[in-house]
Amino acid sequence: MPTFETHTDANQHYQSGFANDFATEALPGALPIGRNSPQRAAYGLYAEQLSGTAFTAPRAHNRRSWLYRIRPGAVHKPFTRIPADMLRAKLVANFADVPPTPPNQLRWDPLAMPAAPTDFIDGWVTMAGNGAAESMSGCAIHLYAANRSMQDRFFYNTDGELLIVPQQGRLAIWTELGKLDVEPYEIAVIPRGVRFSVALPDGVARGYICENFGALMQLPDLGPIGSNGLANPRDFLTPQAAYEDREGSFELVTKMNGVLWRADIGHSPLDVVAWHGNYAPYKYDLRHFNTIGSISFDHPDPSIFLVLQSPSDTPGVDTIDFVIFPPRWLAAEDTFRPPWFHRNVASEFMGLVHGVYDAKAEGFVPGGASLHNCMSGHGPDAETFEKASAIDTSKPAKVDATMAFMIETRTLIKPTQFALETAQLQANYYECWQGLAKHFNPEQR
Ligand SMILES: [Fe+2]
Repeated sequence: MPTFETHTDANQHYQSGFANDFATEALPGALPIGRNSPQRAAYGLYAEQLSGTAFTAPRAHNRRSWLYRIRPGAVHKPFTRIPADMLRAKLVANFADVPPTPPNQLRWDPLAMPAAPTDFIDGWVTMAGNGAAESMSGCAIHLYAANRSMQDRFFYNTDGELLIVPQQGRLAIWTELGKLDVEPYEIAVIPRGVRFSVALPDGVARGYICENFGALMQLPDLGPIGSNGLANPRDFLTPQAAYEDREGSFELVTKMNGVLWRADIGHSPLDVVAWHGNYAPYKYDLRHFNTIGSISFDHPDPSIFLVLQSPSDTPGVDTIDFVIFPPRWLAAEDTFRPPWFHRNVASEFMGLVHGVYDAKAEGFVPGGASLHNCMSGHGPDAETFEKASAIDTSKPAKVDATMAFMIETRTLIKPTQFALETAQLQANYYECWQGLAKHFNPEQR
């Protein structure tokens, strides 16, 4: 790493660019030319619009797609709640309902792989979040662990956009708008409402989900960085149209306001033969992130590692920042190179895809998580501090073979009851700072 290889058969099945106005058809002529809703669509298809923003949203933020499909999305039986004894996912969508948030630094070991057969949807557990799905503001942060492909089962999320961060095992995500093959080091974003099914090519899968209740994720402005850098738009890949014409006894599941509902459906909803528009799933390989840092002294705020942001109504203040800490060179001279000690107004949930995070020598392992809420003091552990204070900074050093990420929000990230009571919560996390020795000596500068 970094590598510029293609990690999947990217160029054959994907269209390149972030939120472009894409156009794709799996059968020639399926896509109407120059119009959206002809009296009779080609091949006997139905036209259907899928809106992701208000009709009147400014053009720069307006997102919708036109789908040409075998049956409209309305064709299914009524939804009923999944009965409690069948429900395995542990979900929270309204963070007014969680216990008081402790001001402590929190850290968790990875979730165990499930013992019973568990698919991608059954394997969700909500760890933390803020706001509420019903008011379309805030986010939920979930972990997933699964050992079975979704079989004749399709899902869409009413509550928000899903930013999926695989940590172990590939995901084959077949969406209405085409197929995404995603592996660890990549992320996938599935827009609100898009129907999909997830298969597990490796048999098991584990990772993180940032569910965005608010404004759609976008690429940040680059300011003085210029016209290139950080996550470049062309590295975001959106699938080509792919459909199946399959009938049977299938299940359509949705999550609405944190509750899972199911409906019988007699056909595969992955039946979109052609589509055009800018509201579509995409993936991005984090190894393509162009990491920027100091080449003199000090290091910039972690906003320099921003991949995607969900903006708030306040300019410059995001509801969610998705930030990564990829392999990179540290070149700052006479500088304490790891992340400094800090207390921020923002709240920070971290996960680790691979390797070791450079502020923590141990205890933060791939698949695990940490949470440092508003104004909670944190930073390097004692061992990391001593090492970084002593190293020779006249030479660059490589932080290698690592991929950590952070979900940073403007409001408190409130852990769920599950997160506060699970055996994965590390009771001794605070100890990593207790060894920070007093070095103060008024007699010696
Ligand atoms: Fe932090």
